[in-house]
Amino acid sequence: MIYIVAAVAGIAGFLFGFDEGVIAGALHLLREEFGITPFDEGLMTAAVPLGALGGALIAGRAAETYGRRAPLIAAAVLFTGGALFAALATAVWMLTVARLVLGVAVGIAAMVAPLYISESAPASRRGMLVSIYQLAITLGILGAYVVDFAFADSWRLMFVVGVLPGIALLIGMWRMKDTPRWLALKGRTAEARIAIAHIRDLPPGHANVDDEFADIMRTAAADSRPSSWSDLLNPVIRPALVVSMGLFFFQQLSGINAVIYYAPRVFSEAGFASSSAQILATVGIGIVNVGMTVVGMMLIDRIGRRKLLFIGFAGTALSLGMIALGAAIESSFLDYLTIIGLVLYIAAFAASLGPLPWVMMSEIFPLSVRGLGMSVASLANWGFNFLVVFSFPMLVSTLGLGGVFFIYAIVCAAGLVFTWRFVPETSGVPLEEIEAHLKSGRPIRQLGRVTGQVVLA
Ligand code: GLC
Repeated sequence: MIYIVAAVAGIAGFLFGFDEGVIAGALHLLREEFGITPFDEGLMTAAVPLGALGGALIAGRAAETYGRRAPLIAAAVLFTGGALFAALATAVWMLTVARLVLGVAVGIAAMVAPLYISESAPASRRGMLVSIYQLAITLGILGAYVVDFAFADSWRLMFVVGVLPGIALLIGMWRMKDTPRWLALKGRTAEARIAIAHIRDLPPGHANVDDEFADIMRTAAADSRPSSWSDLLNPVIRPALVVSMGLFFFQQLSGINAVIYYAPRVFSEAGFASSSAQILATVGIGIVNVGMTVVGMMLIDRIGRRKLLFIGFAGTALSLGMIALGAAIESSFLDYLTIIGLVLYIAAFAASLGPLPWVMMSEIFPLSVRGLGMSVASLANWGFNFLVVFSFPMLVSTLGLGGVFFIYAIVCAAGLVFTWRFVPETSGVPLEEIEAHLKSGRPIRQLGRVTGQVVLA
């Protein structure tokens, strides 16, 4: 059952990746048909992250008030409607509005889906299950590239494909129950108990159900006061805010979406002359992204969050350095350095910096402010995302490709220090225990160490 839960919520991740990636192959067709200006083009492309900012803003409140299931149903309706509207658009402003609607859906889904999975998962496999969400994003990006390739001369067909996963999400979420933790928080204890039994595939009277129910009730009872934005600045919560926003800062400023959106251009700098070769290499990037996300999923609960982050930041810093060196110096030999660097970069990112911020944002906030905290963290994600994608062309024209990637390399090196200094180990620690630790006032960094010793003892 828990895998079905993750799969349904994962469709939301797929739609996230799809709606981001699909525009890449559509842009040149839209340019021909509507003769759009660069401003219109930029606005239409950026409408998704812009809408997502709005979606993330309302999603926190919605998840607190209406639960984790209802906002995902609303997102499914927006995904489906937005895709249809985009496919039927007869003017550029209509497409921009459609993408804004899709963006709102992405913003809601990007926050609520990991929350839904995290609150439904057993502690021992929480990291892996939340990473399914990241896997779904990468599959969505790859899916979009493939659809762009398959329907190379009809942008309407490219967009309309998004209707299918939208409907699947709607049907899937309609049949799911809300998470036991949210139901308990709202005092709906009988339903909470049934929901636990449902996701654990156990009869409601089973001892394991009783244990989990008791744990959740204890935390919910302590947390029943309604939360407000200012609670996030409470000294108990602040460390969680620093970790989650900080990780998204480093995830985005590592330059990932400069590569995801502008990969063909980077490949052209690296000596791929024909545009079909550039697109093919881009599909290759999409495949490495998916494959290495799977590797990360297998490692995340095993070697732990911190170690995986260290490997990821070291790997991305080195590979970005290779790209920068290859791009800065004119030589066909060094072109290979750029290409190898690019593949290594995507691999290191996908196994680590891709999934980890999403996983940690879903587990590190106390229940009472989890929705709001995740909302702010995903706002940071979209804000930094927008910043990088928007600034990349301008930065390239002033600093050159090598200079820009050199900046991203420095950011990743700084990520090592940030991880060492601020990021706790949450691997295998139940959400209730993470919360108890934060409230005890002990430094967040001691989380893994202290609980680790307890577990070993
Ligand atoms: C992560 C990032 C997202 C990026 C994706 C690439 O999900 O948050 O911005 O596009 O990884 O795989």
